[in-house]
Amino acid sequence: MHINDISEQSLRRRRGEKWTQYPADVLPAWVADMDYRVADPIREALNERIAAGDLGYPVSPARSGLRELFCERVAARFGWAISAQQVVVINDVVQGLYLALQTFSEPGDGVIIQTPIYPPFLKAAKQTGRRAVVCPLQAGRSAFEIDFDQFEQAIDASTRVIALCNPHNPCGRAFSREELERIAEIAVRHDLVIVSDEIHADLVLDDTAHIPIASLSDAVAQRTLTLMSASKAFNIAGLCMAFAHFGSAELQARFERIPGHSRGGTNTLSVAAVTAAWREAQDWQDEVLQTLRNNRARVAAFVAAHWPDVRHFPPQATYLAWLDMRQLKLPTAPQAFLLEHARVALSDGKAFGPEGEGFVRLNFATSPDILEQILLRMQTALDVYAGK
Ligand SMILES: Cc1ncc(COP(=O)(O)O)c(C=O)c1O
Repeated sequence: MHINDISEQSLRRRRGEKWTQYPADVLPAWVADMDYRVADPIREALNERIAAGDLGYPVSPARSGLRELFCERVAARFGWAISAQQVVVINDVVQGLYLALQTFSEPGDGVIIQTPIYPPFLKAAKQTGRRAVVCPLQAGRSAFEIDFDQFEQAIDASTRVIALCNPHNPCGRAFSREELERIAEIAVRHDLVIVSDEIHADLVLDDTAHIPIASLSDAVAQRTLTLMSASKAFNIAGLCMAFAHFGSAELQARFERIPGHSRGGTNTLSVAAVTAAWREAQDWQDEVLQTLRNNRARVAAFVAAHWPDVRHFPPQATYLAWLDMRQLKLPTAPQAFLLEHARVALSDGKAFGPEGEGFVRLNFATSPDILEQILLRMQTALDVYAGK
């Protein structure tokens, strides 16, 4: 069966938040889950565990083989040579972000964050009592760009961490080697720890490879904690498992002082699913990436044809379109307007920091048919408002 063989009716039977948060006449394109059918090898592995009644405590991460599998995968895909001893299995990437801030900085210390940003970055700084030092990405000619002067100026004596999001959610940037080298050089010069959320690494849609910042050099790896998982690219976020890689034994030892029970880790189903994803589901993921590229092109063409006042840079990575609707001068925030008048649920740009006000984030990881309905509903609502 094809990944796109999904109907709205079947999706509405799901119990996750994407399809249950809003009333039944609303099409959801908000939270970063994909609508595609899960890969057959993952489904079979989960079914097998359940049929065997195998829901007790899982084997330890060290015995599961998953850390080795993770290393094999990043070596093959990103040319990043790391060893299993440097990898700690945790519950999820956001947990890793919180624990890293708590471990590698003190209350009141500054954390560099490139806004607009996936909301838990800002929440993690706030809730752990750290200071979010925001360095907004700037709209360039064809993509969002880093203002390095501002980045550098934002650093002061109490800045400890750069919380990097690469590929970047919601701006869709897959940062170039040059950009990453400049970030890394600043980190070295100011003695900052880099916490690099690379959860979207497998979702680079352009014809370029993802570059883990820790792979730039040993000196960069020495100050970097990289967070990755199978959850975004294989659509199994609900199973909860993530991987933290430490290029420094010292940083790793500090992190591992957090009691194991606070770090969480694995469960029988996540072990089965992640193993199947990385061993057997690459064909599925390649098919997904092709659909995402097509959908990305469809969104770009639609925006260009119908909404000349909406600024949109097609994302280099992720399945998220970040639409600047400020010029439309809608009477309410675009997210609220489109929910009410188009019955489409997008993510409100404001949640991604003040720079996101007037923007919406559209998740296009659905079938071409459903995406078309989403876009047409938005067009109708915007046309009525514009008096067309
Ligand atoms: C950049 C980024 N980091 C982390 C997450 C969530 O990861 P997890 O479910 O492993 O906490 C997401 C989910 O959309 C994300 O976009």
